[in-house]
Amino acid sequence: MKNILVIGACGQIGTELVPALRKIYGSDHVVASDLNFPLKGELGEGGPSCKIDATNINDIAETVKKYKIDTIYNLAAILSATAEANPMLGWNIGMGALLNCLEVAREYKAALFTPSSIGAFGPETPADKTPQDTIQRPKTIYGVTKVAGELLSDYYYKRFGIDTRSVRYPGLISNVALPGGGTTDYAVEIYYAAIKEGKFTCPLRADTCMDMLYMPDAIDAAINLMEVDPTKLIHRNSFNVTGMSFSPEIIANEIKKHIPNFEIQYNIDPLKQGIADSWPNSLDDSVARQEWGWNPKYNLETMTIDMINVLKEKLK
Ligand code: NAD
Ligand code: SER
Repeated sequence: MKNILVIGACGQIGTELVPALRKIYGSDHVVASDLNFPLKGELGEGGPSCKIDATNINDIAETVKKYKIDTIYNLAAILSATAEANPMLGWNIGMGALLNCLEVAREYKAALFTPSSIGAFGPETPADKTPQDTIQRPKTIYGVTKVAGELLSDYYYKRFGIDTRSVRYPGLISNVALPGGGTTDYAVEIYYAAIKEGKFTCPLRADTCMDMLYMPDAIDAAINLMEVDPTKLIHRNSFNVTGMSFSPEIIANEIKKHIPNFEIQYNIDPLKQGIADSWPNSLDDSVARQEWGWNPKYNLETMTIDMINVLKEKLK
């Protein structure tokens, strides 16, 4: 039986990952933790929870020891736009949390999942069908931490045999927790705005294409990758995964199929636009498909139907 620790559990991913893990492995076997404590709702009440500052290695080590943790999901990070506004914070949290998790994983022989991102690519990377193995020269502090994190995680695997695995998530679209300060946040906010106000002011140009993934597929990616037989993995840190690629104009037209009066207007945020322009238009995720059976269920059409149905209920 696995004993799992989720660090940074209160964010966009953790809010849905923790209940999914508790359903599979049993509530008592999944510890939810965050800097923000106490944890609210299902995160705090549905199983064990505690306060962990991921930049403090003792917080992590004590919890791993106490609950006999064998698998850590490290979700603590500062997302791209917020990190770019405060680069030292982005570096200190992104790298500090990862290095502490790697060291604790080494001492207690735990497996470690830490998401990377499309932010690990940069303007010199081929933008269309971005290959698994390619140029990675990001121009954001977020991207620098993601590339360094991929390298460091592979180093701990090769040097110490630590079972590190990760995926390069694209923008994640979800309807439980709001996104935490990324460049792709608009693709969540647009659904809330469409339902609440019938209109949306977009911070990115109409033709800005980026990869996206619906949260149920993102959760499956994390859990399935951590479950797969390690002998199947040629790559580890980190796998390209994607569910769809679209621009603001394309997603707005998809929403209009369900909310015909929906209107989009544009007020470009130069910081976010610059970041988005440096990221790929569409990833090639065939290596994840080959090595561990990655196969997302949702595309733009099916995700939009689900998002609108769920948010109409939630925002009633
Ligand atoms: P989020 O910003 O929504 O949540 C991060 C959580 O970490 C928050 O609950 C925050 O309180 C917590 N945290 C911050 N500093 C901490 C610290 N010192 N100790 C403990 N907890 C701390 O982030 P998310 O969207 O859930 O992303 C999780 C991971 O996935 C990150 O590594 C992120 O880069 C990556 N990722 C996310 C997306 C996305 O679209 N959401 C896409 C690509 C990659
Ligand atoms: N959604 C994330 C961001 O925009 C991608 O890593 O920062």
